[in-house]
Amino acid sequence: MILDENPNGSNTSSNPSLPEMIEQQMSRRSVLVGALGTGAVTFLGGTLLSRQAKASSASSSSGPGAFLSFPEVPPSSADTIVVPAGYTYKVILPWGTPLSSTGPAFQEDASNTAADQAQQVGFNHDGIHYFGFPGFENRRALLVMNHEYTDASQIYTAAQGPSITNNSSGKEKVNKALEGHGVTVFELRRDNNSSYRGLQGSAFNRRITGNTPVTFSGPITSSHPLLQSTVTPTPLGTLNNCGSGYTPWNTYLACEENFNGYFGANGAFTAQPIESRYGLTASGFGYGWHIAEPRFDLNANRNEPYRFGWVVEIDPFSPQSVPVKRTALGRFKHEGATCTESGGHVCVYSGDDENGDYLYKYVSNGPWAQMFANGQHPLDFGKLYVAKFNANGTGEWLLVEHGNGPLTVANGWADQADVLFRTRQAADALGATKCHRPEWVAENKNTQDVFVSFTNGTGNNSPVNSNRDPNPYGHIVRVREPNGDHRLTTFDWSVYLLAGDNFYDPTVPATQAIFGSPDGLWCDDDGLLWIQTDISNSSQMRADRGYDRIANNQMLVADTNTGTLKRFLTGPRGCEITGVILTPDKKTMFINVQHPGESTTYWNGLNGAPTNANPSTVSSWPYGGRPRPATVVIRRIDGGRIGT
Ligand code: FEO
Ligand code: CA
Ligand code: CA
Repeated sequence: MILDENPNGSNTSSNPSLPEMIEQQMSRRSVLVGALGTGAVTFLGGTLLSRQAKASSASSSSGPGAFLSFPEVPPSSADTIVVPAGYTYKVILPWGTPLSSTGPAFQEDASNTAADQAQQVGFNHDGIHYFGFPGFENRRALLVMNHEYTDASQIYTAAQGPSITNNSSGKEKVNKALEGHGVTVFELRRDNNSSYRGLQGSAFNRRITGNTPVTFSGPITSSHPLLQSTVTPTPLGTLNNCGSGYTPWNTYLACEENFNGYFGANGAFTAQPIESRYGLTASGFGYGWHIAEPRFDLNANRNEPYRFGWVVEIDPFSPQSVPVKRTALGRFKHEGATCTESGGHVCVYSGDDENGDYLYKYVSNGPWAQMFANGQHPLDFGKLYVAKFNANGTGEWLLVEHGNGPLTVANGWADQADVLFRTRQAADALGATKCHRPEWVAENKNTQDVFVSFTNGTGNNSPVNSNRDPNPYGHIVRVREPNGDHRLTTFDWSVYLLAGDNFYDPTVPATQAIFGSPDGLWCDDDGLLWIQTDISNSSQMRADRGYDRIANNQMLVADTNTGTLKRFLTGPRGCEITGVILTPDKKTMFINVQHPGESTTYWNGLNGAPTNANPSTVSSWPYGGRPRPATVVIRRIDGGRIGT
């Protein structure tokens, strides 16, 4: 996305960086990488799979050989979705779709009001999950998805323009943006022809937006002094919901990523350390919301940012339920929240997506079902850890807990609430390892291997990944805990997959599918790792950045049983591909196309930048007019298993 391009991050600690360690590992493995540079279409991870292959053959009904036989989709710069021959797709639930058939219709000129937007699907679809109804899993479901941010050149009319003014029209525009953020719950029905459609008017359909009342639970509750505000006495909303997660008890986890960007200051503003570590500044990301709305003015409402940076639990089956911010999982720029289970405990992995920030894990205190029976929510009572990667391929999970190591009263840490509000600084103090923008995390449930995408990064006072500095293409790291037990506090790690284009970077295997900036990750229960890319709009298509041949953002799939990698889908211009889930029968896949047609350096140069008057200079996907983020439903034409 365009907004998470913070090249330097805010981590000024001297903690060692993961790229430094990777570089040491990679230099040890240079012979291995070189050997894989020719011959079979495989990658580094393919040589490290004995345990995976064993587990997969025991678990997969189709057998590993059945996967990835589809013809690979080539890179594409076309303004469309491309899926393999034998597959078909359909666009559903684009931005502006009314929740009810009697709701406000989408207006092509962007003249829908904030009140309209509150009753329509939000903007910039991101993380997604499919919750099947028990007994009807493949026919009836709730599709739940995030809406990460809004684009001021796309959501306002030509007459309105992009900027925010200090008057009622500015307030209305901020409000429309707020209503375009958050989460959508939309019931899906499958017709007899196996086509899924959104069921307008379902009692489950719901928007949770930047204005929806929320509450806090865990070590920090809504009564905490730092969560009080006279501007908005009731805590409202969730913002910048990027990746997502889902719990074993069928709730949805929306994650708050770049929340800092929405805040600004009218008048002089000097950030305190806790504020600067989270990137709060007088101008934010330039949205200008603070100009019209005191809620986002740091000088008028200094506590509001403490209400953001959390994992938000939503029960989609309970339309009146209040979203709960689960504070035990820490406050940082949560990319996602991937739930795994060990011994009945829920173990949640979450990357802090900023250059130089960290990878975290939360482990519930007990088996989650037992905790519920005892009246304890498993996401409220548990331990938070942050990853320390050692150069020798081992690692430790460091306990982010008041009293542990440096996190003492004597060192200025008041209590666990203080530690959680300042999770990033606590992790700095513990000596966590800086990473190149940790994004989504996926678990292969057959092997308990955990995969983390590091989308790209620069510096951190170190050579970057595989001697790449800067590291424009990113990579995927595999984490293995002893016996696959996610409750434990040691692990082994290795580079699983290097992204890139061998034409520009010979350390990438020549026969490997070219791609860059991996972001979305999800592993299905046959061990297929779905990889989605988010090349920034400042790099897309640019030869001088080594991204011209890779072209538009895409989705690939790695068979972790065999090490095979193939490109499965390419997206339209200016978009990222994000969010992926299969139906239980694995015959239908849902993905999201986020920010099609966003201002993109390369396409702007050819066609001019998109404006409120002409929003379609980069893309007119999906309907030939104003670009609209949307969900894409993918099936095999013969109705078979996706990924075969
Ligand atoms: Fe919103 Fe880290 O991607
Ligand atoms: Ca991203
Ligand atoms: Ca993302």
